[in-house]
Amino acid sequence: MSQNIYPVPEGFAGPNTINAEQYAALYAESVDSPETFWAKAAERLEWFKKPTQIKDTNFDPKNFYTRWFADGELNVSVNCIDRHLATRGDKTAILWEPDSPDTPSQAITYRQLSERVNKLANALRTLGVQKGDRVTVYLPMIPDAAVALLACARIGAIHNVVFGGFSPTSVADRVRDSAAKVIITADEGLRAGRKVPLKANVDAALQQEGTQSIEKVIVLQHTGSDIAWQEGRDVWLHDITASEPAECEPERMNAEDPLFILYTSGSTGKPKGVLHTTGGYLVQAAYTHEAIFDLREDDIYWCTADVGWVTGHSYIVYGPLANGATTLIFEGVPSYPDASRFWQVVDKHLVTIFYTAPTAIRALMREGEELVKKTSRKSLRILGSVGEPINPEAWRWYYDVVGESRLPIVDTWWQTETGAFMIAPIPGAIPTKPGSATKPFFGVQPALVNAEGEFVQGAGEGNLVITDSWPAQARTVYGDHQRFIDTYFSAYPGYYFTGDGARRDEDGYYWITGRVDDVINVSGHRIGTAELESALVQHPKVAEAAAVGFNHDLKGQGIYVYVTLVAGEEPSNELQKELVAHVRKVIGPIATPDFLQWAPALPKTRSGKIMRRILRKIAENAPDQLGDTSTLADPSVVDTLVKERHLT
Ligand code: WT7
Repeated sequence: MSQNIYPVPEGFAGPNTINAEQYAALYAESVDSPETFWAKAAERLEWFKKPTQIKDTNFDPKNFYTRWFADGELNVSVNCIDRHLATRGDKTAILWEPDSPDTPSQAITYRQLSERVNKLANALRTLGVQKGDRVTVYLPMIPDAAVALLACARIGAIHNVVFGGFSPTSVADRVRDSAAKVIITADEGLRAGRKVPLKANVDAALQQEGTQSIEKVIVLQHTGSDIAWQEGRDVWLHDITASEPAECEPERMNAEDPLFILYTSGSTGKPKGVLHTTGGYLVQAAYTHEAIFDLREDDIYWCTADVGWVTGHSYIVYGPLANGATTLIFEGVPSYPDASRFWQVVDKHLVTIFYTAPTAIRALMREGEELVKKTSRKSLRILGSVGEPINPEAWRWYYDVVGESRLPIVDTWWQTETGAFMIAPIPGAIPTKPGSATKPFFGVQPALVNAEGEFVQGAGEGNLVITDSWPAQARTVYGDHQRFIDTYFSAYPGYYFTGDGARRDEDGYYWITGRVDDVINVSGHRIGTAELESALVQHPKVAEAAAVGFNHDLKGQGIYVYVTLVAGEEPSNELQKELVAHVRKVIGPIATPDFLQWAPALPKTRSGKIMRRILRKIAENAPDQLGDTSTLADPSVVDTLVKERHLT
């Protein structure tokens, strides 16, 4: 046995375990007879009307369409709640662990969840929210975040969650683009003992132009602090739900009706509103959640992501609840009150499945083994990773220290646009290798394209594409279908382009190498270079800016920006701070640049295109790898930047 292959643990078997033979047979069926395979898979859901049309898709950009289960009708909240009530009414649906360990945790049963969701769904209807209307959700990590999503799903409203760490401007951008009717927020959030002024951010967002579509602001009382109040517009969630009945007729949704919009960064322009629909999304979210986490009835499942990202949508809320699981929602951060919090929470709630991000693992690894070893972690059965390639060193620490060399690690590769897991090891079937997401899920057909635009055969490296549709794939960019096709289906016509590079080894395992476009992956979060640059040039003293990523020990990638000031402005430490603060204000703290270098000029081609490749090398402090600079309009620009790299 090679040291780099970790076999399926001896005796790993539960009611949903898929073994190696079953994986091979099911995978073959899923690509050879997708209709039969996915018709069967759809039976895991409860449909008002069972689908008879299963797969109806075409990736040709000239005649593009994606329809799954097109004549089926269902409601997501019925699948996540109602159908469990008979057998799991008293089972805990949501376990809530607050920011502070001194605040009591909460357990919400499926029956209680049903009541809360139906009351809020009724209240939304009373406010005039109808099927197809957009609802912005800007909440902390509290059970009500899941309640809000499910209430929207119940009445067919399209939710758009905005991460609580985003700025008022980001909230305003999303409200404007989606023309949302209602926003659901809280007075404040809490993170590591600090208050996050959510309602004040919403107030500021709604002062910005183009946000008049918002008719009501629903406010949840969380910290109880005083907040500003706009009579007529603002309503308390507890007031509007108090007298609503605990039953709400669910909307009959077509499988292809929209469920949610989630904005994500690309290489150009403003974030795109990635739109997901109902049937295919839920089938694959539920199926992958069960298969990759080898779900068992008494599991306590914990995904540490924020509900503001797709991971929170598919693997805190929809996948787990569709499967009748117990899902833990954690309000806090891994380092508060100290860096053993994750493991304390695991022991407190006897968590069996733990799913987090490499950036968190690396941060905790730094704090030493003692903080882990002083906890038991005996309840754990499976560990998961998501968000960026996990470096083998972090993988081994996760495996050896956290998992005491007994737990499978599932490294799950997927994207906002894919909706659900795409490449990930089924733990009873696939031996793992540190740093590899391993093999494709059922129905997923990855391929690698080399620099010549040809498919790589066997072992090799290239850009990762997916050759055929899968049920949970995004259907469009909200309001801009052409942008959807241009972004994902034009680079390699007929194939979905992921934006990632990957390597395939001799065992057919996939190793994601990271983004190959102008997207920076900071702690597992996508930040577009275009967004950073447009934020910077909004500042009156900035003439031009360029942003690149560089390797960062903790975050995976950090943000390095080059700034050219307008004539007459002088660089200074104060201005540097001001510009960094400006980016935080425009986008949010996750977009904070790590380095800002003054650039008298930026390296450009003769046609005026900024050469990011060169700027990336300077940021990485690899001036010997600049490559060919002969196409530059003025090569001396590069020498200056290299020379001054350390001065800022
Ligand atoms: C990008 C998608 C959906 C997961 C949360 C982030 C990177 C994600 C992995 C992984 C290597 C990964 C890719 C991808 N990524 N998971 N297991 N191994 N890279 O969702 O914000 O849409 O970002 O995150 O680069 O394209 P997202």
